Amino acid sequence: MDVTTSRFHPDQRPALRAFISATTAHDGEPSLSEYKEMRLDGGIDSREVISVDAEGRVVGYGQAAWHRAIGGVAGHWAMEVVVAPAHRESALAARLIEELRREAGKGQITLWARSPDVTAAARANGWVLSRRLLEMRTSLPIPCAPEGLAGFALTAFRMGVDEHEWLSANNEAFAGHPENGSMTRRDLERRIARPWFDPEGFFLAWDGESLAGSCWTKVHEDGVGEIYIVAVTPGWEGRGLGYGLVCHGLDYLASKRQVSSAMLFVGDDNDRAIALYEKLGFTRTRVLEAFEFGGQS
Ligand SMILES: CC(C)(COP(=O)(O)OP(=O)(O)OC[C@H]1O[C@@H](n2cnc3c(N)ncnc32)[C@H](O)[C@@H]1OP(=O)(O)O)[C@@H](O)C(=O)NCCC(=O)NCCS
Repeated sequence: MDVTTSRFHPDQRPALRAFISATTAHDGEPSLSEYKEMRLDGGIDSREVISVDAEGRVVGYGQAAWHRAIGGVAGHWAMEVVVAPAHRESALAARLIEELRREAGKGQITLWARSPDVTAAARANGWVLSRRLLEMRTSLPIPCAPEGLAGFALTAFRMGVDEHEWLSANNEAFAGHPENGSMTRRDLERRIARPWFDPEGFFLAWDGESLAGSCWTKVHEDGVGEIYIVAVTPGWEGRGLGYGLVCHGLDYLASKRQVSSAMLFVGDDNDRAIALYEKLGFTRTRVLEAFEFGGQS
């Protein structure tokens, strides 16, 4: 089949959105991470490539988003590629990856593979496995006691008030993490603008004036609840606050949002968080792999 791959043009956005919706419906899983999906309307520091067939239909897409350097973590490109089901046996994933790598130019690149064709293309073309993200799930409600919250004042996130405090506590808790540790105000505001955003499900635990920890929940369109981001500020770890926040978030999802199934993502090297989630009954359901380019440029 005749397929052309080139730099993305903004006029192609409606066709692109329809393509991503179709592949997501086909696979039963989001074709792009939320971070990439939020940039489908165009994002600063993004590179995009697109593949169309002889009839002009979109059959492939790739996006690279720049994550700025912060603390000791170098800036890097994070790439994702989506291929139409009918083209997954072809070399299209490899071509999109290569085009996108060329578009991104210099700088470290991480390729997140969300489907087997992308994983296979990465492995066959000099990309080396670098990180794994676990998806974990559990049924709700869960019998847990948020004892670790005792002594903290719990508030819902206040828009226009809590942004600065939350960003600095979150980035401190995730220091060294390539994505979560470099959240900007714009990243936060993009999420607040999403239809799913619910300030009542975004809890902040205060020790006096200091933000000691937070748990942000999200309810997906299919009714699954997510522990979206949980962070305990350095200085308050190890005293049950993380457990208490997640327990409280799950209780909110079950009792206030009628959620019966919860999920979350966690790095497979985050032993502390995984142990906490397993204590609450979460089990591993899926693994997403990330690759770094180790071949010849
Ligand atoms: C992971 C993180 C949230 C843990 O928070 P924490 O407050 O340090 O953890 P806790 O004190 O609540 O939990 C510590 C232990 O007590 C247990 N615990 C605490 N309260 C409990 C309770 N009421 N009942 C049963 N177990 C409890 C925990 O399961 C855990 O067990 P362990 O000692 O065997 O490790 C925190 O380290 C953090 O913010 N890390 C950086 C950000 C991050 O990685 N977030 C998660 C990414 S997905």
